[in-house]
Amino acid sequence: MSERLVELAKRRGFFFPASSAYGGTAGFYTYGPQGAALKRNLLESWREQFLTKEGHMEIDAPTVMPESVFEASGHLDTFDDMIVECPACEASHRADHLVEDATDIADAEGMSMSAVEETIAEHDIRCPDCGESLAGVEVSAFNLMFGTNIGPGSSSPGYLRPETAQGIFVEFSQLKEYARNQLPFGVGQIGRAYRNEISPRRSIVRVREFTQAELEHFIDPETDEPPLSRVEEVAVPLYSASAQAGDGETETMTIGAAAETGVVDDWIAYYLGVAAEWYERVGVDMDRFRYRQHQPEELSHYSSDCWDAEVEVDGNWIELTGFSYRGSYDLSKHDEYADEEFTLFRQYDEPITVERPTVDPDMSVLGPEYGSEAAAIAEELQRLATGNPDAFEGDTVTVSVDGEDRSIPVDVTGFAVEEVTESGEHITPHVVEPSFGIDRLIYTVLEHAYREDEVDGEPRTALGLRPGVAPTTVGVFPLMAKDGLADRAQEIVRRLRSEGYTVSYDDSGAIGRRYRRQDEIGTPYCVTVDYESLEDDTVTVRERDSTAQERVAVDELHTHLRSRMTNRQ
Ligand code: GLY
Repeated sequence: MSERLVELAKRRGFFFPASSAYGGTAGFYTYGPQGAALKRNLLESWREQFLTKEGHMEIDAPTVMPESVFEASGHLDTFDDMIVECPACEASHRADHLVEDATDIADAEGMSMSAVEETIAEHDIRCPDCGESLAGVEVSAFNLMFGTNIGPGSSSPGYLRPETAQGIFVEFSQLKEYARNQLPFGVGQIGRAYRNEISPRRSIVRVREFTQAELEHFIDPETDEPPLSRVEEVAVPLYSASAQAGDGETETMTIGAAAETGVVDDWIAYYLGVAAEWYERVGVDMDRFRYRQHQPEELSHYSSDCWDAEVEVDGNWIELTGFSYRGSYDLSKHDEYADEEFTLFRQYDEPITVERPTVDPDMSVLGPEYGSEAAAIAEELQRLATGNPDAFEGDTVTVSVDGEDRSIPVDVTGFAVEEVTESGEHITPHVVEPSFGIDRLIYTVLEHAYREDEVDGEPRTALGLRPGVAPTTVGVFPLMAKDGLADRAQEIVRRLRSEGYTVSYDDSGAIGRRYRRQDEIGTPYCVTVDYESLEDDTVTVRERDSTAQERVAVDELHTHLRSRMTNRQ
């Protein structure tokens, strides 16, 4: 199936390998006219569902970021895949994928490198390119980021972003101002991300340059709750980590029940519900869909819980979206590494009065007594007053400076407990992240729409794309390109285009072949102008899936098409 889909995708202008004039580069694809339009429609629909309807903001950050960002985020140290290099032909392979392909192990990504090495030896796994044994060959870590230099020379290293998310996190102090410093708020971003995959595969499913649509929802974990009632009735198939660890199965539950019973965290459950409605609307076959929770060893370095939306394509389950609870990981890391603060002021309902211990050491005593150590002693006294004010209850207080204890008379420390009024506190928001891989979604929507059937005894290939995402919405044909039929058809094309349809005009070949061409790109409706049209101003409207035809007045064409497309999304 995948070969036929990939062949159709190239022939009809959905996607094809990039730079093939120069031999091509694995993992890079160009979207043709139909693919680019399908992608645009999917992204527009995503924007509406996850940003506009939710009231979230959208930003557009650079794709190249300085190394310091990825030192802080942890990607420099931990964003690795396992690589094994064939000693004979020098081809590089993703070691965990070799293990998955050759054994019953379904997910080897979470295994340690030594366990993967041992499994390769135990099963005598061989190089897929030349057949050489890989037993005993070292498995090592390969960082997936594409590095570059910013400006001439190498003094300012940078990386192509491996996720759009970091472009949101690093701008947090600015973004919170746009949200008027109020939690919760969400920031989305659609854009390219880059991963130097060891072995790109399955056409656009695993590529080195891809498009993400990510939402970072900043919340106060103590007070904010998701609007679960909006999606509580949505039923979703859930494959929990505990079910995977035992002999459990995928269980279909409503979002309300999943959240209430604690099977899924409330915030993640909310987005699973929002996303399930959307997947169905854009044409994912929900009979080949599930939400699968990550096992602890699968979790990314930033994630404390994660559910993947998975779909079955070409007989394999693949990940479409990760719904991750990133907690305070990213903002805390940037707070630690960057010059700005990555916190937000949480206002109390009512100001509170708190006792704050302070010191005001008498330096005219400490200076002569302790000389160059006096300043460090004063600092230690302040730290002790905050951390352990009871230490000041006696006549003397002991502080340690450079490993030496110093006993200081309490009456020279200026110790006092002040009462202060506080209106709030600085907190680090938590982050809930739905992260969509758009190229995989495009593949899925095409694969789930692909069908081969028979029309009038002839085989046909069609894409049953939803009208809401189909790249071309109407095909218009004159029965013959003469006798004024072509002119009338062109008038209808212009009118439909001005009404917002994406129209393809075709006057070449037999009418049946023209229908087939539109079926192959998933055009939901075709309009044919014939001799009757010149007499009574009606046309034939043909529906793609049923191939049923109706006679419709040209003046009613827009209303007719709109109502049918709305009903079929
Ligand atoms: N932001 C999550 C990911 O890129 O996988």
